Amino acid sequence: MNVTVDFVLNGDAVSWQGDPARKLLDVLRDDLGQTSVKCGCREGECGACSVLLDGLLANSCLVAAGRLAGSEVTTMEGFRTTERFKVLDRAFASRSAVQCGYCIPGMVLSAEALLSQNARPTAEEVRLGISGNLCRCTGYNAIVDAILDASKEGEGLW
Ligand code: FES
Ligand code: FES
Repeated sequence: MNVTVDFVLNGDAVSWQGDPARKLLDVLRDDLGQTSVKCGCREGECGACSVLLDGLLANSCLVAAGRLAGSEVTTMEGFRTTERFKVLDRAFASRSAVQCGYCIPGMVLSAEALLSQNARPTAEEVRLGISGNLCRCTGYNAIVDAILDASKEGEGLW
């Protein structure tokens, strides 16, 4: 049975209708055009599908659409309009921290979630913060350095 679920996506009100058991990953990609949200494993293991759900990092492949009522969802399509994104974007580019790019939307949202809680993390804290996001290309060091750079260059933004 289909239901109507009202939530906020990147600052805009959404009234979505469908099977409440569908996963947020599929709703975002297939119904709402949020193709930055990637599908890797569908098991909560890779972080490619990461979004911010009420400000906290969430694997959208594990979230049923029916529980979204009243929630705020942020994807890279929304986050990329922010000043914080610009700082992270510059830092990732300057450290050559993007190779194939598949993990990067999730990595950047993971960085945002971390820096929102801890604006000046240590390298170890960054590694822990992104530990739910797998990257098969970079070896992680450049990503960690980029997030550390962003935390310094974006002082006052987080
Ligand atoms: S697709 Fe969701 S964690 Fe891998
Ligand atoms: S840049 Fe390719 S998976 Fe991370």
